[in-house]
Amino acid sequence: MKTDYIGKPANRVDGAAKVTGEAKYAAEFNVPDFLHGVVVSSAIAKGKIMRLDTRAALALEGVVQVFTHENRPNLAWFDRSYQDEDSPPGAPFRPLYDEKILFSMQPIALVVAESFELARYAASLVHVEYKSESHQSDLEANREKAYKPKKYKGAEPSPRGNAAEAITQAEVRIKAEYMHPGEHHNPLEMHASTVVYQPDGTLLVYDKTQGVQNSQKYITNIFGLSKAEAHVISPFVGGAFGSGLRPQYQLFLAVLAAQELKRSVRVVLTRQQMFSFGHRPATVQQVELGAAPDGELQAIIHEAFAETSQFEDYTENLVNWSAMLYRCHDVQLAHKVVALDVYTPLDMRGPGGASGVYALESAMDELAYQLHMDPLELRLKNYTDIDLSKNNPFSSKELRACYQQGAERFGWAQRHPTPRSMRDGHNLIGWGLATGAWEVEQQKASAKAVLSLDGKLTVSSATSDIGTGTYTIMTQIAAETLGLPLEKVDFKLGDSSLPEAPLQGGSWTAPSVGSAVKAVCEKVGEMLFSQSRQLPDSPFANAKFTDVTFANGQMHLKNSASQALSIIDIMRQSDLHSVEAEATAKPESKQKKYSMFTHSAVFVEVKVDEDFGTVRVTRVVSAIAGGRVLNPKTAESQIIGGIVWGIGMALEEESVMDHNFGRFMNHDLAEYHVPVNADIHDLDVIFVEEHDAIVNPIGAKGLGEIGIVGTAAAIANAIYHATGKRVRDLPITLDKLL
Ligand code: MOS
Repeated sequence: MKTDYIGKPANRVDGAAKVTGEAKYAAEFNVPDFLHGVVVSSAIAKGKIMRLDTRAALALEGVVQVFTHENRPNLAWFDRSYQDEDSPPGAPFRPLYDEKILFSMQPIALVVAESFELARYAASLVHVEYKSESHQSDLEANREKAYKPKKYKGAEPSPRGNAAEAITQAEVRIKAEYMHPGEHHNPLEMHASTVVYQPDGTLLVYDKTQGVQNSQKYITNIFGLSKAEAHVISPFVGGAFGSGLRPQYQLFLAVLAAQELKRSVRVVLTRQQMFSFGHRPATVQQVELGAAPDGELQAIIHEAFAETSQFEDYTENLVNWSAMLYRCHDVQLAHKVVALDVYTPLDMRGPGGASGVYALESAMDELAYQLHMDPLELRLKNYTDIDLSKNNPFSSKELRACYQQGAERFGWAQRHPTPRSMRDGHNLIGWGLATGAWEVEQQKASAKAVLSLDGKLTVSSATSDIGTGTYTIMTQIAAETLGLPLEKVDFKLGDSSLPEAPLQGGSWTAPSVGSAVKAVCEKVGEMLFSQSRQLPDSPFANAKFTDVTFANGQMHLKNSASQALSIIDIMRQSDLHSVEAEATAKPESKQKKYSMFTHSAVFVEVKVDEDFGTVRVTRVVSAIAGGRVLNPKTAESQIIGGIVWGIGMALEEESVMDHNFGRFMNHDLAEYHVPVNADIHDLDVIFVEEHDAIVNPIGAKGLGEIGIVGTAAAIANAIYHATGKRVRDLPITLDKLL
């Protein structure tokens, strides 16, 4: 038996439950006689509901109620503002508040019936008359209305040096504008809430969410309930990618109906409705770079325009990468938003990083060609060991190793610099690269541990596993810390009554909850240790806690494995039936003096059919510096998922807005294109060694988002190398290459 698990590949502890269907999702928890709610969505993008006739729907036997702005209860929330943990500045959308329409497909009614089919049919009978007003949904057309968003965390740093002046002095310059459209999260699991109305009038809520306690706070605040009256559970999430960071309107509507009708209610959104509550915002980004003939960067100007709604200023870190990724002393950044008649955009995997780094890294490639310099050499020339945007050292930065190991694995040295110079029959071959970065954050998190006499350890925290492998890595950390076999450890999450944890987002779950799990297991270890010292003939009588370690079900002296006691024996001899502890891990103040990032170097090969303009991404090597890798197997899956998404971003994904209607038209998986297996070829992930004693007690930086950052730029750069065509608006579809 070996109980050192951290850093070793482990199968998902929840894998069997997921593939056998034992794992249950929000819309799969059944209770007797629950009702089904179907949402009626607005047909217009802006205006007013003049008449809403629900009589035909209500006349059907089995239709219980139709909730609209006309008959909805008066809720405390409607008179004051409430923000969820992921709200941008502004006033969150309030479903069924009044007759005003703020965006296309706004929920305007909830039809509640005894069966799903009946509710859906009845929803089709709800007659609505609107008065339309003219709407604006086009970012490009409204650019002159751009403004600086209200103050927000992560706003761009003030200018350093004088970039406007430096750019005019630079001998080599490029200036270009990059665009990408809105994109939508398309998790397999639709947003759903099953609200169980319990005999005592309290609610048991199964919600699709990235944070059960965020959903709970939302419900308790809006409906004026206590925490005990709204228990939120979400053991499994069928993908979310940011779409579950904010409580969505199906939760509000399901709770409202359950409260009013005193019955259990389920509301599941349709795939079309999944396109109605937040997306990666379309952006237009201008980047200007100036350099000396030897490649030394002399100026960076990065100005971004992004869409937002009329009621909230959605903001993300879009341009700040341009201040920290390279050594350049004259930098000027701007992030502006344009308020449109759309729903507020929403974090989507690598929010801001995926899109902002795309622009910067495309521009760096253009600059390399202007300089007649290898794109990798240009990056190395401007490598920085200091985050110049804050004048902080990095807590660790093995990006150089990413470049070196990635280039070697890829065979970058064999690249012919000239575009259109490499081919394979009628396919043009292109090689491109990009750098990626993602900020590392540790949030406050708590965990509880219970060790019982049968040697079983249960650790819990109200975090989430959106498919990232949280169950597995937390089990590994707990098992190794207390030297128990993996099978003896049970990790519980997704329950609002568990110790407090942040939303699962920002790649911070491993650093944050992982640190809490480690801390609580150490606490249990200390409790066992102090018990053990009091036992007769204890081998630890004169030892300190730092002298012992746990392995193979035993506590032993670090310098002598034979001086040991089994954990169960310690408990038995001390008459303990269980050992319980709770711990909270918070960022340490030493972090403040450092900038903390994961980094990546992404190398891509594309083959472009010369006649048809079709692009295949035939090879990707992504070298990642993400601190300590807790589980190489689940970690690799995270990066592969990110790369696949980067391929989608570069070549396929586009939420097409028909500006006549202000509506996303391709709102289903037939028309919203994402990569399928046939689009994916050779993906190779390298984790470079990186030790970081600053970021958090476990040294892990989080790997949920770095995989997508840089990938789209590397693909666009490879396409330029293959074809000699610089396409600056994503996705790069074949029509743009012909
Ligand atoms: Mo992620 S977009 O922080 O869920």
